[in-house]
Amino acid sequence: MRILVIHGPNLNMLGKREPEIYGTLTLHDINSALDALRTEFECSLGFFQSNSEGELIDIIQQAPESYDGILINPAAYTHTSIALRDALAAVGLPFVEVHLSNIHRREEFRHKSFLAPLALGQICGFGLDSYLLGLRALFNHIKN
Ligand code: DQA
Repeated sequence: MRILVIHGPNLNMLGKREPEIYGTLTLHDINSALDALRTEFECSLGFFQSNSEGELIDIIQQAPESYDGILINPAAYTHTSIALRDALAAVGLPFVEVHLSNIHRREEFRHKSFLAPLALGQICGFGLDSYLLGLRALFNHIKN
């Protein structure tokens, strides 16, 4: 099984970016923790981060050639991007949406996700654990 992990805009700045909200782990730390958990499952992981909506759409469009599912933190595009939603709908791969922070207890504009209605599920508010729980849930869903 192959799973693609996608990180959206500004997540390359984790560690320095608003640590009181997002914590002090870097993106590299998160990817390493996912990679460590992966050994518990029999799956391979690909990692991709971009600040560009178009690049994220391109990688989603290509994903079915190489992957069975997507773990995605769409970051701010969660709340704005119908184009990302359409890309995920077009490819039809199962995906889980994750967020480090609890978007539902933050500003109102973060409460809406254009992607969540298509996702297997959304996990938010648990920092690194949002990703780890998301990977577990996606893996179990694809396996069964
Ligand atoms: C985020 C939440 C989004 O609202 C925000 O724009 C981000 C990060 C999170 O992981 O908590 O960039 O997706």
